[in-house]
Amino acid sequence: MVKIRLPLVAYKTLLFLTLFLPLYSASVSAQARTPGELFPPDKIFLLEEPRDWQNTEEIMDRLHLGAGDIVADIGAGSGYFTIPFASRVGEKGLVFAEEIQIEMINYISRKVEDLELKNIRVIFGKPEDPSLLDNFFNLVFLSNTYHELEKPFLMLENIRKDLRHSGRLAIIDWDPAKKSSFGPPIEAKVPENILIKEVERSGFELIEKHNFMPYHYFLVFKRKS
Ligand SMILES: C[S@@+](CC[C@H](N)C(=O)[O-])C[C@H]1O[C@@H](n2cnc3c(N)ncnc32)[C@H](O)[C@@H]1O
Repeated sequence: MVKIRLPLVAYKTLLFLTLFLPLYSASVSAQARTPGELFPPDKIFLLEEPRDWQNTEEIMDRLHLGAGDIVADIGAGSGYFTIPFASRVGEKGLVFAEEIQIEMINYISRKVEDLELKNIRVIFGKPEDPSLLDNFFNLVFLSNTYHELEKPFLMLENIRKDLRHSGRLAIIDWDPAKKSSFGPPIEAKVPENILIKEVERSGFELIEKHNFMPYHYFLVFKRKS
């Protein structure tokens, strides 16, 4: 067997690269992505169009959403999910519709008033913190929003605090591996494996994957104890 003698400096460099390069590249792949643009409020009408590609009843069934549940709809937009959630959880439940764009807040607030819904609270949050209540929610839900988060790790840390111990985090987002002729540009979409890595690094564990939507992935996480 041929033994190769390395100078000490080369040996130390090799050792350093072997130990730390994998950590470095994992954190770069999770952090160095540019968030997508915020959905423009002047296009809010697009969020109101019926979506045969994102069926709210099926999504609620798969989440086993029921009477009395307390849900946070983060990045609620026009309230496309907020309103069906509110009718599903009923008068004993609550839905918090959270947004960081004032136009969306005004739009949902008007809708809630017109429909005289008493179990919805509209919350004006911050890009890094939905400003909700600690240890309060059965379910935190983000649809078509994760890829827009400017500070995903801070958001996830705060979401974790807002969830009850048995609470779940559901994320539906655009899958770059599925072709679509509409939606955000491909470079703004977050690959499923990167998203899972980011969420798991933030103290969650993947518990369900639902693969029935033509353009999206649908992932459910629970808090790691
Ligand atoms: C494409 S819309 C989706 C709206 C809705 N969830 C739906 O599926 O119809 C994404 C929304 O997320 C909101 N958003 C982006 N970053 C956010 C953040 N850090 N906190 C709360 N909302 C955010 C945007 O203002 C935008 O209205």
